[in-house]
Amino acid sequence: MARKFIVGGNWKMNGSKALIKSLVQETLNGASWDTSKIEVVVSPPAVYLDAVRQAAKPEIGVSAQNIYSERSGAYTGEISVDFLKELGVEWTILGHSERREYFKEADEFVGKKTAFAISNGLKVIACIGEKLHEREADQTTAVCFRQLKAIADALTPQQWASVVIAYEPVWAIGTGKVATPEQAQEVHHAIRGWLAENVSAEVAEATRIQYGGSVNEKNCVELAKKPDIDGFLVGGASLKPEFVKIIVAGE
Ligand code: G3P
Repeated sequence: MARKFIVGGNWKMNGSKALIKSLVQETLNGASWDTSKIEVVVSPPAVYLDAVRQAAKPEIGVSAQNIYSERSGAYTGEISVDFLKELGVEWTILGHSERREYFKEADEFVGKKTAFAISNGLKVIACIGEKLHEREADQTTAVCFRQLKAIADALTPQQWASVVIAYEPVWAIGTGKVATPEQAQEVHHAIRGWLAENVSAEVAEATRIQYGGSVNEKNCVELAKKPDIDGFLVGGASLKPEFVKIIVAGE
């Protein structure tokens, strides 16, 4: 079964009204790609979600960067699934390594939020990935499988239809040190194998696995050729016009 290539732009804590105009309204709305083969999702900071959803053409999905695991209440600063639904935002990123590292989000909490988001009608880009010292200690797959298991434990088999896994080796994020296509393919293949063994062959075959970490217009084409790389989650380069070149790498 062909998996539709999916490219996400994670703006992180960057952006402005001016960027929405230049990047979304002018560049992305003006660009074209084969929508039968490629899905595009942009993930601005929460305060810009409404403006981006209104500015972006309908075939561009919009994603939050995080949500909380309750619908409403005394949770100062948090983002509810209901807010997203009211704005027409269909996606959220969860478990990004920056949330895990700086905001101490544990594996189980990421799993719980993934299940909560999906139960409330959202689609999730769930991030996993090892740190440099873990790779050097030959712990890459052990770390990825541990993070994946916490997500899988929280989901029913049917809910996997709403999940995209983003494999983002932490040492490659924002460093300019992209994983080689072979390194990325090796881990993506292992992740798919884990899904086959621990969830089901169908889920393993259907689940899209994005690569994230210093993806740019120069390295995206070779990465996209690998059989288990089904798209990208792009940080820095998603803030620039070169994002369009990364999108069309999926063609
Ligand atoms: O979520 C995207 C990400 O963490 C990669 O960031 O700047 O290395 O493309 P960057």
